[in-house]
Amino acid sequence: MEGSRHSGDDWWRSAVIYQVYVRSFADGDGDGTGDLAGVRARLPHLAELGVDALWFTPWYVSPLADGGYDVADYRAIDPAFGTLAEAEKLIAEAQDLGIRTIVDIVPNHVSDQHPWFRAALAAGPGSPERRLFHFRPGRGAHGELPPNNWASEFGGVPWTRLDDGDWYLHLFAAQQPDLNWAHPAVRQEHEDVLRFWFERGVAGVRIDSAALLAKDPELPDITPDRTPHPYLDRDELHDIYRSWRAVADAYDGIFVGEVWLPDSERFARYLRPDELHTAFNFTFLTAPWDAASLRTAIDNTLAEHAPVGAPATWVLCNHDVTRTVTRYGRADTGFAFADKVFGTPTDLRLGTRRARAAALLSLALPGAVYLYQGEELGLPEADIPLDRIQDPMHARSGGTDPGRDGCRVPLPWAAGEPYAGFGSVGEPWLPQPPGWSTYAADVQAADPGSVLSLYREALRLRRTETGFGDGALHWLPSAEGILAFARPTGLTCVVNLSPEPAVLPHHREVLLASDPLDAEGRLPQDTAVWLRD
Ligand code: GLC
Repeated sequence: MEGSRHSGDDWWRSAVIYQVYVRSFADGDGDGTGDLAGVRARLPHLAELGVDALWFTPWYVSPLADGGYDVADYRAIDPAFGTLAEAEKLIAEAQDLGIRTIVDIVPNHVSDQHPWFRAALAAGPGSPERRLFHFRPGRGAHGELPPNNWASEFGGVPWTRLDDGDWYLHLFAAQQPDLNWAHPAVRQEHEDVLRFWFERGVAGVRIDSAALLAKDPELPDITPDRTPHPYLDRDELHDIYRSWRAVADAYDGIFVGEVWLPDSERFARYLRPDELHTAFNFTFLTAPWDAASLRTAIDNTLAEHAPVGAPATWVLCNHDVTRTVTRYGRADTGFAFADKVFGTPTDLRLGTRRARAAALLSLALPGAVYLYQGEELGLPEADIPLDRIQDPMHARSGGTDPGRDGCRVPLPWAAGEPYAGFGSVGEPWLPQPPGWSTYAADVQAADPGSVLSLYREALRLRRTETGFGDGALHWLPSAEGILAFARPTGLTCVVNLSPEPAVLPHHREVLLASDPLDAEGRLPQDTAVWLRD
């Protein structure tokens, strides 16, 4: 037992948080689907990696129409994953290793199999049960047109018509009806769900689609001049999160919000001291591999967080976006959902080299860092055969968007075992591409030059050396294409994104480099280094 890695209440300001996509992490019972037994068996990997907390994507009862973001019961574990008793054991076992647990709450919508929605369907138009959602008559002479002109986040029309004539709103898939957050029962229920999980020992909650919950009650058309937006980033949200914060404070719990907003001032409003503790940094995640763009993303991030006193988070990938080594190996190294297409040429050697450098960059920046499972293995985005794609984003795009399954492929653990050690019996729910076992954790653990070895060493240094995590940063003078900054207590990070080798600033010790320095001790292209002065 290592005990808690951060003491005090502010662990989250400097934490390294590892995202577990349960379905694809490790299959304990051999049915081809990852589960809690698999996570429990692999906790030693996570402890050895050296992470401070685990964020579990939704593990609740769900028909899995959107990988679990369609929740039918927020207080029970999906039987495919395990039981509530097992989740409690997992939380306790992780805690014994000094690892905290963060659960994922999905407040914007429920599954169409949730008892509330089933009751609303049964109760019919005009019923009180339907007021928990957004049911409306259609437009047109026979109500045959959707009630407004909104578009689904997954493409297509966000309204579905029932046989009784009513339409219901779903900003995502049709199996994810949006809740009506103006209804007091909706607020009450979610605060109870928060308490339910805090009572079970979780340290924090990730809030899914956090800026979408509140809707203009009129559900008006979106027009270019309409402000505020009818469902994005509405002021009513802040009142909701203030009452959530009061719930969390009673348990010392923390929040991380999924807040995709281009406006940094509006974004920072969610991070005021009586609202959310942190939010994901999508500015950094979407920035291309280019020194000027990254520096701007870093400066903007720090500038927007400073006035509210919240720590930044640094995220390179998650279960929704293209895996980092693939993204950085393409001509366009930024990320945008709208730009995803099949067949983009990719240089994985180049992408991996850049991803290694980006890992050291993000781990040296002030604040907390999120890692997505498989990032520590340098997994690429996989091509999923068309007939195996499950993500609704693919079908709802009319088949043009490859969807998000390529970053959700079951992990390779052991090269010599069936399905690369993901699970021994059943075929994994998503196919692993040829060569997947070359990325296996056991192979990488034995190779000091592997991505896994780099992450382990980086996280070990981040824990044992001073100057990482929350705190200040100052930029050092550097040539074009080079990022160089110092943290307090003499820790320096330099990243070379230029073609020319870079001469390192004064230092006493090289702590870690993402790839070897050249014979003259200079930093080659697409390499990062941590120095101690
Ligand atoms: C968030 C999740 C994503 C999900 C969506 C709808 O963006 O990260 O995976 O599909 O919300 O819940």
